[in-house]
Amino acid sequence: MPHVGPTMSLSSLQRRRLVAAARQSAQAAYAPYSKFRVGAAVLAASGEIFTGCNVENASYGLSCCAERAAIFKAVAGGARKIVAVAVYTPTPKPTLPCGACRQVIHEFGPAAEVVCTCRSAERVETTLDQLLPGAFGPAALCRR
Ligand code: THU
Repeated sequence: MPHVGPTMSLSSLQRRRLVAAARQSAQAAYAPYSKFRVGAAVLAASGEIFTGCNVENASYGLSCCAERAAIFKAVAGGARKIVAVAVYTPTPKPTLPCGACRQVIHEFGPAAEVVCTCRSAERVETTLDQLLPGAFGPAALCRR
C-alpha cells in the first residue's frame, strides 16, 4: 500500500481495501448483548490499515466501539496520522460513528475521510470535520 499524505485524497483502490477490511472485521465483533456487529478500519498516512470491532462487556458501559478499537490499535502500532476511516454494519442502512468515536478520530485525523457501508449498496462518504464541526482538540490546550 503506497504512502498517503494527510492532504492527499484516497485512491479508489485504497478505499475499496479499507471498506473490505471494515466488513471483514465485523465478523470478529463481540456483541452478545446488543447483537449489533460493527467493523472498522483506519488507513494511516503510512499506508497501513488497522482494524477493529466492537467489544462489549457484561458491565455494559465498559463496551468499546469498533472505531475506537481500530484507532487505539493504530496508535499502539505507531501510527498517529489517520487519513481515512471505514465503518461497516450488516444493516440495511449505513451506521455513522457515535459522538465519542468522532472525538477520538479527531485527535489523529481531524480531516479524515469517513466511509460508512452496510449490507445494501447504500453508503455515506463524508469527512470528520463535517461530522464534528467546531471540535475540541489538541490545539485548544495550547491556548491557556
Ligand atoms: N457501536 C460501534 O461499535 N460503533 C458506533 O459508531 C456505534 C455503536 C457499537 C457499540 C455497541 O457494542 C453496539 O454498537 C450497540 O451500540
